[in-house]
Amino acid sequence: MPPGTHEGVGLDDWAHFGRVDKSDLLGRVEAFAQDLAAGWNAARKAAPSFRKGGRFVSSVIVAGMGGSAISGEIVADAFRGHLPVPMAVVQDYGLPAFARRETLVIVSSYSGGTEETLSMFEDALRRGCRIVGITSGGELKRRLKEEGLPCFALPGGVQPRAALPFLLPPVVESLARAELITPKEAMEESIAVAGKIAGACARARPLRSNKAKRVADALAGGTPVVFGEGVLRAAALRWRTQFNENPKVIARDDMFPASNHNDINAWGLDGRAGEFRVVLLRDPKGHPRTARRTELTKKLALRGNAGGIIEVEATGETALARCISAVVLGDLASVYLAIKLGVDPTPVEVISRLKAELAKS
Ligand code: PA5
Repeated sequence: MPPGTHEGVGLDDWAHFGRVDKSDLLGRVEAFAQDLAAGWNAARKAAPSFRKGGRFVSSVIVAGMGGSAISGEIVADAFRGHLPVPMAVVQDYGLPAFARRETLVIVSSYSGGTEETLSMFEDALRRGCRIVGITSGGELKRRLKEEGLPCFALPGGVQPRAALPFLLPPVVESLARAELITPKEAMEESIAVAGKIAGACARARPLRSNKAKRVADALAGGTPVVFGEGVLRAAALRWRTQFNENPKVIARDDMFPASNHNDINAWGLDGRAGEFRVVLLRDPKGHPRTARRTELTKKLALRGNAGGIIEVEATGETALARCISAVVLGDLASVYLAIKLGVDPTPVEVISRLKAELAKS
């Protein structure tokens, strides 16, 4: 057996989940709502030198990689109906040309040691951008302190992707302090919705009535393709990346309506379509024409071609709560899939090896 793999555990055999999920990543995801509440409380008190108002902001960039970038993607989706300025998430070594003095650059690295993020931080400094950092330590924390810049300090000891409930509130709070959004209602609803999903899909809930376990069960043995729609674009991206890192499976993400202009064309003609299991993240408050497109896509392309179709409906009044509801369900499903496949969801050995190799030169 390759390192990190074990015999899979049945999804109702929860007393034995620890045989595979050795560091109890599932427990961390089950506590998403509590962590989000704690993260939100902490964010509102943190970084006092980053005060409400201040310098005019004409655009926002979240500069971060992987698990430290997804918070920006979710916030950009959830608040795009409210944000009066453009917001971009950049995962690279440098910032785009529009980054200048009036740009708020939120530099996000859970570990504080990610080289691309550190490089974007230095780029933001050179350009004179308004900078705020989010980190649990490392070089980023040191550089922020050295430059006298505000920092949202996060608790340590969590996998970056599992630290989402701590990484997201500082992004929201930064936008609020720049007077771009008023997030109280959305954050409170998101905490409540996350708690409901985690409760309904907790380990002790049997597979027959546990949506996250049912999703994991339906995806085992196939390649997940997760479709978001509208504000659920980043939620689909989060599903894909969680499937990559927790059960360590190759997965794809796509979205409606964009997929109607390319992806739809392949399902009936590519003989490999049956290898893919489709997850449709549905937004009950999405555009009605998008809902119609999704129904037609099932009829014209997916049914009879894909290896399975499973639908997940987001819940909540605010866009942020709907995004979070989809994210929490996907996070749980990804850990359940890991347990079923016998793959310890916590270690990300190849990512760590790559970082170690890069650090040598
Ligand atoms: O999930 C992960 O471990 C990665 O995607 C990391 O988040 C990514 O490599 C960036 O590291 P950090 O979040 O510490 O900046």
